[in-house]
Amino acid sequence: MKTLDTYDFSGKKALIRVDFNVPLNDKYEITDDTRITATIPTIKKILKDGGSCILMSHLGRPKDGPTEKYSLKHLVNPLSLILGVSVKFADDCIGESAAEQAASLKPGEVLLLENLRFYKEEEKGDVVFAEKLSKLGDVWVNDAFGTAHRAHASTAVIGQFFEDRVCGYVMQAEIDNAQKILEHAERPFTAIMGGAKISDKILIIERLLDKVDTLIIGGGMTYTFTKAQGGEIGKSLLEADKQPLALEILAKAKEKGVKIVLPSDNVCADKFSNDANKQVVKTGEIPADWEGLDIGPETIKTFTGILEKSKTILWNGPMGVFEFPNFATGTNAVAEAVVKATEENGAFSLIGGGDSASAINNAGYGDRVSYVSTGGGALLEYMEGKTLPGVAALE
Ligand code: 3PG
Ligand code: MG
Repeated sequence: MKTLDTYDFSGKKALIRVDFNVPLNDKYEITDDTRITATIPTIKKILKDGGSCILMSHLGRPKDGPTEKYSLKHLVNPLSLILGVSVKFADDCIGESAAEQAASLKPGEVLLLENLRFYKEEEKGDVVFAEKLSKLGDVWVNDAFGTAHRAHASTAVIGQFFEDRVCGYVMQAEIDNAQKILEHAERPFTAIMGGAKISDKILIIERLLDKVDTLIIGGGMTYTFTKAQGGEIGKSLLEADKQPLALEILAKAKEKGVKIVLPSDNVCADKFSNDANKQVVKTGEIPADWEGLDIGPETIKTFTGILEKSKTILWNGPMGVFEFPNFATGTNAVAEAVVKATEENGAFSLIGGGDSASAINNAGYGDRVSYVSTGGGALLEYMEGKTLPGVAALE
């Protein structure tokens, strides 16, 4: 695989696939710019070499062509500010005007193309569309780790049209850090998994059972474990058909000598709302009309105690409905414990994308852990052992 550091971009137009799929509020302001700031070193290296950058990305999941809400023009000003270069914008990603703008780009300049997903061909992995995109640059750089699990035109198919395919810094760091966790973890190694569904996490949980010393499970998926073990969960989240699977996971862990730690108490609510009435109950004793929305204080003590003694930590998924401040206590406590392990115990801590990345960034701890992944689904699939099309296209 060609890496950025071994490639001289002088005089070259680099067509860079980035993942600028960032959250925007209703004023089109970016609410978490992690994915943009992560890409800056890649762009700067190319400019410093004397090259120019043509950035392409998707934003959201537009269904019917160009939509104001999903226009990448909203990113031009913030990106210019972060980068310190005035970024040009092409209001289409293919066609004459994009071609002209790309052709007239000078060394040191940056051009951002309009949303790739305004064309259905992008997600279909259309070869003709990929070839049209490829004409815009001399060399293809893939730095979109967050989209590397998609076999789309710009993330994978396009590779065949370039002799020079280069792995960006984000892509490289993501792979290196995931490898470090999977293959070179210092012990004790604790994975802490959360989120709503067992079905989303089952493959990674199974793989981790061969790697970790302790697997902590929190969040919505734990109610299915509780129910499967005969506990009362009231109106809490339940994947009824996954109860046998939950018991299987527990049995497999025992077989492999992995310690699984589940919550021992929960904060439950009388409705799904931040201002619901709440009470702490023992796990398995949630009253009929109530639902569990967070881990309880005893569980926080157990979980944070284990994390603080760990030398390697992988965290993926929140412990409760952290979007409601009144039910974010468990998730925030885990974030604090991961920071403490990193700073005081020298642990290597990897925060796996999506919700856990938002949680750690919202809590202001993003730069106090070892690495916050820019990938949600992509990181999970990589860690499950799947080949990511966006990575394979670079090889
Ligand atoms: C993400 O945010 O998951 C990536 O940008 C990929 O987007 P997608 O899930 O819509 O393909
Ligand atoms: Mg996704």
